[in-house]
Amino acid sequence: MAIIIKSQREIELMREAGRILALTHEEIKKALKPGISTYEIDRIGEEVIRSYGCIPSFLNYNGYPASICVSVNDEVIHGIPSKDRIIQEGDIVSLDAGVIYQGYHSDAARTYGVGVIDSKAQQLIDVTRESFFEALKVCKPGNHIQDIGWAVYNYITERGFTAVEDFVGHGVGANLHEGPEVPNFPQGRKGPKLRPGMTIAIEPMINAGSCDVLWMDDDWTIVTADGELSAHYENTVLITEGEPEILSKADGIDL
Ligand code: CO
Repeated sequence: MAIIIKSQREIELMREAGRILALTHEEIKKALKPGISTYEIDRIGEEVIRSYGCIPSFLNYNGYPASICVSVNDEVIHGIPSKDRIIQEGDIVSLDAGVIYQGYHSDAARTYGVGVIDSKAQQLIDVTRESFFEALKVCKPGNHIQDIGWAVYNYITERGFTAVEDFVGHGVGANLHEGPEVPNFPQGRKGPKLRPGMTIAIEPMINAGSCDVLWMDDDWTIVTADGELSAHYENTVLITEGEPEILSKADGIDL
């Protein structure tokens, strides 16, 4: 898929998409309590997105049936919301959402613990998030996509975790998925050079056990092969001449 360098106008639209996405994440985070179903989280997320006149990026994308991906515990990504899936104290929950504002997407994911969780689970969540910020440090023009992979990979492996290799981050813009692919591991080639105006979704998917994953019968949900926990953290990032800019953020809301 082609890598598309964005114009100033496109960047402004993506900033607004990202701001609304951050506000959406804040609302679904607040809703995440023991007893709520993953279906209800999806309903709240879609309502917030539409309240800003936006469209959920994921709804009907390749047939995906919801607006938010809700992946619990050993679910890595693409968990389908369900009325029967009730969040429990001690769960770790990955919430992944995308917003289309005037034709432009923003894509972001967060993982949270519900109530008291064990310390290894909290460490997985923290290290996954921190690995994104390690990757951000190398998001400079002249560096390559592989520098992002190395940054995530080194950070998480030094802490005893593994990076999922079956799924990758991606360019994002007028399409949810554009070039380049953004792996969370080294691929043995440098990959494309980072250039100002590139917009990429950097999204570490990190496992507590082995990196192997399985595809569930619903054709969407990805789970760890060994049943151990997994966490996901993602932001839409703009490459600039200087420091990278996180686009999926809003004033007063934690990243
Ligand atoms: Co993504």
